Formats: sequence, C-alpha cells, structure tokens
Amino acid sequence: MDIYGKYADSLTSITHEVEDHIRDLNQQTVAAGEPKLYEHLIGRVKGNDSMIEKCHRKGYPVTTESALRKCHDAIGIRIVCNFIDDIDRNLQLLRDADWCTVVKEKDYIKNAKPNGYRSYHLILDVTTPYEDIEGHNPGHYFVEIQLRTIAMDSWASLEHEMKYKHNLKNPERIGRELKRCAEELASCDVEMQTIRQLIHESN
Ligand code: GTP
Ligand code: MG
Repeated sequence: MDIYGKYADSLTSITHEVEDHIRDLNQQTVAAGEPKLYEHLIGRVKGNDSMIEKCHRKGYPVTTESALRKCHDAIGIRIVCNFIDDIDRNLQLLRDADWCTVVKEKDYIKNAKPNGYRSYHLILDVTTPYEDIEGHNPGHYFVEIQLRTIAMDSWASLEHEMKYKHNLKNPERIGRELKRCAEELASCDVEMQTIRQLIHESN
C-alpha cells in the first residue's frame, strides 16, 4: 500500500521548502557577520515501509491519517552543527520563525537516552501552500527537526548500524562501550566549544 496516498508529492515539496527556510535563516545569519548556523542539513520523507512499520509498532491503524497526523515524522530534517552553542542559536530562530510553530520539544542533550543518544528534537507545525488531510488550504504539516553536533551525529550513525546486527556475541559489552564513547564525545563537544570561545576572545 501507498501510505501517504495523494499527499506523497506534497510531502516531498514541503521537505524542500523547509530546507530552504532553514538555509535562508543561515544566509541571513552569515550576512549579519555571525558564524554559520550548521555544518550541513539533510531532509527526507520517511520511506513507505518504515512508516507502515512505525504504525504497526505504535498500534496505530495503517492509514494516511496515522502517517500524517498521529506520526509527526513523515517529514524529517536533521541539522548538524559544529558546536553545541549553535544548537541553541538554531532553536531560537526556529521558535521565532513565522512559517512554523514549535509544538513539541525533547531535549536528549540535557537528558541523554540511557544508551547515550544525544540530540535536540523539535516537532514543528508548518503552514504550507498545499491542502492537508483535514481539507485546509493553506495546509498544516508536521515536521520533525533533529538538532545535533557532528560528534553526536557520528555516534548516532554508528549506533544505528549496530542496532540491526542482532547476532552479536556480547551485546551488553558493546552497549557499555558505545555509551562510554557517547560520553567522551560529549565532553569533546564541551572542549571544542571552549576552544571556539578562546579563539573568539583572542581575535
Ligand atoms: P520513533 O518511533 O523511533 O520515531 O521514536 P519517537 O517518534 O517516539 O521519538 P524519538 O524522539 O525517540 O526518536 C525520533 C528519532 O530520533 C528516531 O527516529 C531516530 O532517528 C532518532 N533516535 C532516537 N533515539 C535514537 C537512538 O537511540 N539511536 C539513534 N541512532 N537514533 C535515535
Ligand atoms: Mg521518529
């Protein structure tokens, strides 16, 4: 089945439009003489099969309604930053933006997940020039934003890979080592931030 139905094309367009909004925020920031907001940005529409799998996992009926309204991550944008402070700058600008409203925030940086996962997650309600499933036009669509540093991103990629290796001999040991790694990367992020500040002050 095609879980997004007639909304599939709109989801792709909205992903690009939100990426463009965030690029604009960056351009304005850089034009004002401030450091860039992020190192890179990636957007995606959650694949059909993973959305169906998620609906099953969450106990939602496998419908377009569930995919667009009950799940909030049909559209996902990851903003990967150089420094921890950049995450706050992005956050501030997104909270102030007129093209979206922040409807949910999860701070997995202050409150890292037990496995060591760190990122700041936002759910945005974005106003778009496309009809939504409730028949509104301008339509409203949810977008999940993940804000993280390069260090957090590299850890999350590795850990994601490991998740799908189910025949590991000593998963506890690997879990412990991964968590230790996450903590070392987190302390590196703090040191890098200090170095940036030192460079800034000596300029
Ligand atoms: P999902 O059903 O997995 O989408 O989770 P959720 O909607 O309840 O929200 P949550 O904030 O826990 O996770 C949203 C997304 O963050 C996931 O789809 C992943 O992309 C990422 N994420 C969350 N936890 C982890 C983790 O432990 N490891 C990695 N690599 N990514 C994670
Ligand atoms: Mg998700």
